[in-house]
Amino acid sequence: MIGKLITEVTKWEFSRAMRFTEGVDASLPRGKTNHGMLLYLHIPFCESLCPYCSFNRVLFDKDLCQKYHSALRKEIQLYKDKDYNFTSVYVGGGTPTIMMDELEKTLLLAADCFSIREISVETNPNHLTQENVDILKKIGINRLSVGVQSFDDGLLKAMGRYEKYGSGNMIAGRIAEISGQFDTLNADMIFNFPVQTEETLDRDLDILINTGVDQVTYYPLMVSESTRRKVKKTLGIVDYRKEKRFYQLISKKLAPYYRFSSAWCFSRRGTMVDEYIVDYDEYAGLGSGSIGYMDGRSYANTFDIPQYIEMLDRGELPLMAARDFTPTQQARYDFLMKLFGLKLDISFLRKKYGGGGIGHLWREIFAFMLTGGLRYKRGTFYLTDRGRYYWVIMMREFFTAVNNFRDFCLGR
Ligand SMILES: C[S@@+](CC[C@H](N)C(=O)[O-])C[C@H]1O[C@@H](n2cnc3c(N)ncnc32)[C@H](O)[C@@H]1O
Ligand code: SF4
Repeated sequence: MIGKLITEVTKWEFSRAMRFTEGVDASLPRGKTNHGMLLYLHIPFCESLCPYCSFNRVLFDKDLCQKYHSALRKEIQLYKDKDYNFTSVYVGGGTPTIMMDELEKTLLLAADCFSIREISVETNPNHLTQENVDILKKIGINRLSVGVQSFDDGLLKAMGRYEKYGSGNMIAGRIAEISGQFDTLNADMIFNFPVQTEETLDRDLDILINTGVDQVTYYPLMVSESTRRKVKKTLGIVDYRKEKRFYQLISKKLAPYYRFSSAWCFSRRGTMVDEYIVDYDEYAGLGSGSIGYMDGRSYANTFDIPQYIEMLDRGELPLMAARDFTPTQQARYDFLMKLFGLKLDISFLRKKYGGGGIGHLWREIFAFMLTGGLRYKRGTFYLTDRGRYYWVIMMREFFTAVNNFRDFCLGR
């Protein structure tokens, strides 16, 4: 009941928040925390397109991918020329490791331009060859995140990944083999596929624990309007009734081996957090369709890859749309993200928004204290067990709104 209410309210809130204004002063904001920002680089190419995926991705084309990387390097240089600095890089996709030589060049340039201390890269299981692993280690990748989704062959076949990325056994074997070669090896998993059962989920969890992976990010299935239709054809009708039960199963089973580092990320001690939006208040989004957030302004690059390349060839930033948040909207964004990372310090709000920081959030704090989602102790709000699931719902709706915005821009 509360879950359904949270879904409806956040769906409405986030669809409003994602109303960007196209072309209107889509200028680059200055980051407030210029010294400690994150650089997000997007590589949209994939060898095949998974039906459930609503991220920004296209089929791999070698020539286009080379031109894309060269444009991305121009964009990195433009940020450098404008005196931006970053301490961390997150390369997401698509499949960033699809052209290793290009990825290496792009990351070496980023390391040359900025004071980079840590690099995180996403990949797919078929790219986990020792040759690739050696290159990634040489570049200085600290965190490698492998997309697994499930070890169940029936499910992998239904989602079109078995042929391309291998059987559950093969994937588990590869992960176990490279375990220990990076500071953090993360496995991306998904729960609440329509055809998933408690038994298949339980088996996935057993296999996962046995691989010895450092970190597990267990996403709830998030579908934009267009992916909902594709998922229906291949995997069945998405419904959220089993989601809470699945989440409880995952939390219980992983608890002896992992601690929560966000509402859906589980880490062994000493590993990095996966969600850059939790660790970094501000981030720049580079690459086609990337979204950045700095100084209360969210801005998006063009989703059109040829246009992205052309704009950078002309020496222009490929910005397409922007949206300025009021102080209350900014505080709400911080409320969502900080608590997704499990806690929110009042001192953080005071520092950022002045004495009245908490005044922006009294409704949210009141509602979640009342429903048992938050507890307060010595200047800090913490998520409770119940609250963690509320945040899974809200983040699911947040990403769904981002994905709907993407579909809207791409005319899907
Ligand atoms: C966008 S992919 C990029 C990396 C790589 N291509 C892969 O497949 O893992 C990163 C992760 O996002 C998650 N993901 C993709 N589509 C999703 C969806 N509709 N709902 C929930 N998680 C999703 C998957 O776990 C995936 O591994
Ligand atoms: S899940 Fe990964 S491999 Fe599949 S389409 Fe999305 S980005 Fe590409």
